[in-house]
Amino acid sequence: MDYKYSKSNKSTKDVDMHLIGVFDNKQITHLDKWVSKSTHNLIKRTFTNNNFAGKLGDYRSFDDLENNIQILLFGLGNKTKFNPIIFNKVVGGITKKIIKTKTKTLSINTENIISSKMKTSYEMLITAIENAKYKYLHKKEKEIISLKTCILSSKSTINTKKFSEYIKIGKALSNGISLAKDLGNTPPNICTPSFLSNEAKKLKKINKLLKVTVIEENKMKSLGMGAFLAVSKGSKEPGKIVTIEYMPVKKKPPIVLIGKGITFDTGGISIKPSVNMDEMKFDMSGAGSVIGTIRSCAEMKIKTNIVGVIACSENMPGSQATRPGDVVKSMSGITIEILNTDAEGRLVLCDAITYAKKYKPRYMIDMATLTGACLVGLGKYPSGLFANNQELAELIKKSAEKTGDRVWQLPLYDDYFKELKTNFADIQNIGGRYGGAITAAAFLAKFTEGIKWAHLDIAGTAWEVGENKGSTGRPVSLLVDFIRSNQ
Ligand code: BES
Ligand code: MN
Ligand code: ZN
Repeated sequence: MDYKYSKSNKSTKDVDMHLIGVFDNKQITHLDKWVSKSTHNLIKRTFTNNNFAGKLGDYRSFDDLENNIQILLFGLGNKTKFNPIIFNKVVGGITKKIIKTKTKTLSINTENIISSKMKTSYEMLITAIENAKYKYLHKKEKEIISLKTCILSSKSTINTKKFSEYIKIGKALSNGISLAKDLGNTPPNICTPSFLSNEAKKLKKINKLLKVTVIEENKMKSLGMGAFLAVSKGSKEPGKIVTIEYMPVKKKPPIVLIGKGITFDTGGISIKPSVNMDEMKFDMSGAGSVIGTIRSCAEMKIKTNIVGVIACSENMPGSQATRPGDVVKSMSGITIEILNTDAEGRLVLCDAITYAKKYKPRYMIDMATLTGACLVGLGKYPSGLFANNQELAELIKKSAEKTGDRVWQLPLYDDYFKELKTNFADIQNIGGRYGGAITAAAFLAKFTEGIKWAHLDIAGTAWEVGENKGSTGRPVSLLVDFIRSNQ
């Protein structure tokens, strides 16, 4: 879609629809400049009659006959509560509605919705509009969306160079989010570890600096990745660890992103109940978010070194599958008693973490749909955040607040580590009955000595259920902001 910027209301003459966000105080400055006198009076009457209260979800349209344009007011709720989360919801919601109409050219009055105080920006507006257009296409045809041009207008002036930068960044971010969504939504008979490694290779088209390497199972054997292989050996599909290197600057330690890429999680021999098991196709969402994030950053030509490492495998109960009670040796040398084969994410991740240490990362962040316990504890709004370094945790929280891609930090007290003790190996792969998201994170933490590491449990945030079932593309916006803010 084409974006333009206009300071005046003149451009609104040749658009189909003009959008104005209104808080519940129902104050719009200069409304008289945007609409004809009669429409202005009509809107004022609607306000006094309380037919439009400016609440979240409210919208109301007026035909401005003189200017031959439709005016659409949408509610922004309470001004003091307005933030990036509400912004994304409101802009996404209203754009989805408009897409369903025949509107070709839209103009948005940004006066009420964009301000640094509310932590909203033009980039975010463009990303939110682009995201609203996302649809998983299961047939080959391209979807035709009539909305072609969007004009963003306000009182203040932005120079053209700045504005084209905003468009570039907003679109690059939404491209990464859409890619992560597509990967998550692709059915598990197609989205296999091999498929993911090919998708990673395709990134090279975005930026020539990208280097993608696939570590095959033979190589993993020689590297001693017994934990990863314990998961992949139950499936016919070969497991793959894929590294995606984006190193635009010389000799600077990279930010390393690690992703859980279980393309389908049956639980293995500790098999899952069949209800909603299809959702376990989303168990590769961590890997999807790494691919999406690097796509966005490479398109933005960010000057920061980034390495993605995705651990891709199926978790199947084949005849070669790992048994509960098996003991394996991870690449780090730590031996693991596998008491539950459904706690497979931490097994593939611990070898990916150990392998990624060779990059001497400035920061390491892993993303994983790791535990149902995280979903039980935090619900579907924030991702669970864990870290062995509080400075890194705070930086992630800052990006979460800025983007509305929320996180909530949970503790990693010594007590949790005690739950991983066993008589038969160095550690076991599950903790006790309670605090499952934390004991899973504690397991990973065992492999992160000497590096600044954080873990995001995205079990509750990576996909939506119900009528909007599908991947959310989270936490791509959080990660892209983190990288852009810590160059
Ligand atoms: N992929 C699942 C976690 C999951 C379950 C995410 C449901 C989202 C929704 C993970 O591999 C898993 O099975 N975890 C187990 C761990 C347990 C065996 C210690 C879980 O959460 O039940
Ligand atoms: Mn599992
Ligand atoms: Zn899993």
